[in-house]
Amino acid sequence: MKRVLITGITGQDGSYLAKFLFNKGYEVYGTYRRLSTPNFWRLEYLGIFEKVNLISVELGDAGSIVEALKLSEPEEVYHLAAQSFVEASFESPVATGDITGLATTRILEAIRQLCPDARFYNAATSEMFGWTGVLKGGKPLNEDDVFRPMSPYAAAKLYGYWITRIYREGYGIFAVNGILFNHESPLRGLEFVTRKIANEVAKIKLGLSKELRLGNLDAKRDWGYAPEYVESMWLMLQQAKPEDYVIATGEAHSVREFAEKAFEIIGLDWEEYVKVDRRFMRPLDVPSLVGDYSKAERSLGWRPKVKFDELIEIMVGEEVKRWEGWLKGERFPWDAPNYPSENRILTRALRM
Ligand code: NAP
Ligand code: GDD
Repeated sequence: MKRVLITGITGQDGSYLAKFLFNKGYEVYGTYRRLSTPNFWRLEYLGIFEKVNLISVELGDAGSIVEALKLSEPEEVYHLAAQSFVEASFESPVATGDITGLATTRILEAIRQLCPDARFYNAATSEMFGWTGVLKGGKPLNEDDVFRPMSPYAAAKLYGYWITRIYREGYGIFAVNGILFNHESPLRGLEFVTRKIANEVAKIKLGLSKELRLGNLDAKRDWGYAPEYVESMWLMLQQAKPEDYVIATGEAHSVREFAEKAFEIIGLDWEEYVKVDRRFMRPLDVPSLVGDYSKAERSLGWRPKVKFDELIEIMVGEEVKRWEGWLKGERFPWDAPNYPSENRILTRALRM
């Protein structure tokens, strides 16, 4: 059985990827971090909480990364853990540089020393392109376009992108960058704009809220469906040669369009409910991003299936179902924190 280590298994992509790899027959190990309230609801929601092995790792702590590699002895490593919220990177730029950027080197260096034959996936991002989207006049961006980051998050990710290439070219490690454009799902964090809109629209439909406060409505993003995107990560590590790939849908839509469509689904006019609020504006915001996934299609056989309208239907539908359940007294998955059962958590006792 192939062994795999996923950093950030409690996040949106980590949990979908864990399920995907478990179904492929992998023995799945994942890193989580100690929080005052446990955060395993996505793994529970997908029904794989009891099927993965959990190892506590703090990305700022190189020793914990070394221990995770020793305990899991992986053939594949998917590095997904990061401070992933662009807005928060303006509030904590130094911590974001450390956790989202430098930690990639901590992991690569541990791989180089302990398991150099392991294949490594790095979660790079379309956010690295930044202003290039404007310079290219809204044309889809590919692997050869230049990066002009516009946030501390993007600058940190760009560092991670280059250090991944340096370990590939300098040490021969099978290390790839997935340059993924925005991908969403009902498991997205609540602060990201798609889930924020879907959640609030559902509450408005059920009379639980009266308005939706948003920032920059003009920003355009290329939004895909997360469960499809995690498959591309796996495909990248199954190739004969390590290369970097753009993963996207090839379509850009504005935040305004997203809100308009979400309200249309529940039969309301978005303009009556959406208020622009400066608190949700950023010091700099990438105006437009759209990706060209033709290399991934050619080499990996990957193409997106769920596009803009269907994505919004899935997300709004799921939130309406959840809030209807809540009105009947059901709990949300994140309202019932759970600890992993003892046989699934690899503790310090095992490390000694
Ligand atoms: P996410 O839901 O925010 O998950 C991030 C994961 O990182 C969580 O498991 C989180 O743990 C963990 N983490 C954060 N800080 C940590 C720390 N100091 N030590 C250890 N673990 C830490 O992000 P996602 O949407 O799944 O994205 C996965 C990766 O892809 C991220 O690197 C993101 O930057 C990148 N990316 C995402 C997109 C997208 O559209 N989703 C696009 C391109 C690239 P907690 O659960 O405890 O917070
Ligand atoms: N979060 C948020 N909240 N964004 C808003 C709001 C709001 O109230 N109003 C407008 N926006 C705009 C943001 O300014 C941005 O232009 C766009 O909506 C998308 O914001 P997010 O959903 O927070 O995502 P992001 O594009 O900044 O970053 C996501 O995608 C990147 C890939 O391009 C994250 O998942 C990153 O981790 C990822 O790398």
